[in-house]
Amino acid sequence: VLAAEPCAWLLGADRASLPVRTSAAHASHKGSFGDVAVLGGESTAATQMTGAALLAASAALHAGAGRVFVALLGNAPGMKVDPEQPELMFRSPDAVDMAHQVVVCGCGGGESVKTVLAKVLSTARRAVLDADALNAIAMDPQLQTQLKARQGRGYSTVLTPHPLEAARLMGITAVAVQADRLSAARQLAERFQCVVVLKGSGTVIATPGQATLVNNTGNALLATAGTGDVLAGMLGACLARGMNAVEAARSAVFAHGHGADTWASDRPGQALTASALAQSQTG
Ligand code: APR
Ligand code: MG
Repeated sequence: VLAAEPCAWLLGADRASLPVRTSAAHASHKGSFGDVAVLGGESTAATQMTGAALLAASAALHAGAGRVFVALLGNAPGMKVDPEQPELMFRSPDAVDMAHQVVVCGCGGGESVKTVLAKVLSTARRAVLDADALNAIAMDPQLQTQLKARQGRGYSTVLTPHPLEAARLMGITAVAVQADRLSAARQLAERFQCVVVLKGSGTVIATPGQATLVNNTGNALLATAGTGDVLAGMLGACLARGMNAVEAARSAVFAHGHGADTWASDRPGQALTASALAQSQTG
């Protein structure tokens, strides 16, 4: 299958160069590195998923975004400051400037993501859609139409499904997605005219009309809750720093796996946590 279709391994030398943040660029200011807004982390009387949004936000900060905003969803009062990460700025979803900030939407979003998704799809020029944002799109043909229309408006979109989220979007089973990951990622990319990052061992990056890439970094230490949220935040930071959607996907996916590989060689036998992975990104 690999030989018959255009597909390349994503290798270190292949990696889109992540603009390294150094202290040497005297003219730069925080605006030079761009803004990320994370919309997710639902809290209601029944659910408390703030952590997912905070992980994505932390990853965006550590991957070099200039400013990171967090808009928590749900009707329960959310946190206003994270004492562990005082850099994060909490906003109401209505106050997010979607035209100018990179929007990372869906991490721990729950059902509440439905209250913001139509606006995100129509207004955010650069968006990363993860988790419950993808689940909501899978169930709503109108949102699917909106998603498809983004490409024609010149908007950038990266979808980050894990196999089950991809399966829901395609109306097939996760087993079927896993049986031909390249084909599943390509079909999603074509259908929604987006860059698709199909996660799992050997993450696939599919872009309409371009060669499909398979990432060769990462390991089973990543199979722990929250690492997907970390990837979404890293993608947001890459977009905020000026990369296009494909470059962002290549850089973030490579660096995310590389972080886990470095952890495995530096700390043999030690479990990796999503927050440690977020903090290990040096952008
Ligand atoms: N090898 C390489 N990479 C892996 C492996 C592996 N064996 N296992 C997982 N990963 C990577 C994936 O490629 C992806 O980048 O870890 C990340 C996991 O992301 P998600 O599947 O989105 O998981 P996450 O959201 O962090 O946590 C699971 O998702 O379905 C929801 O609510 C559910 O709590 C659950 C949560
Ligand atoms: Mg996830």
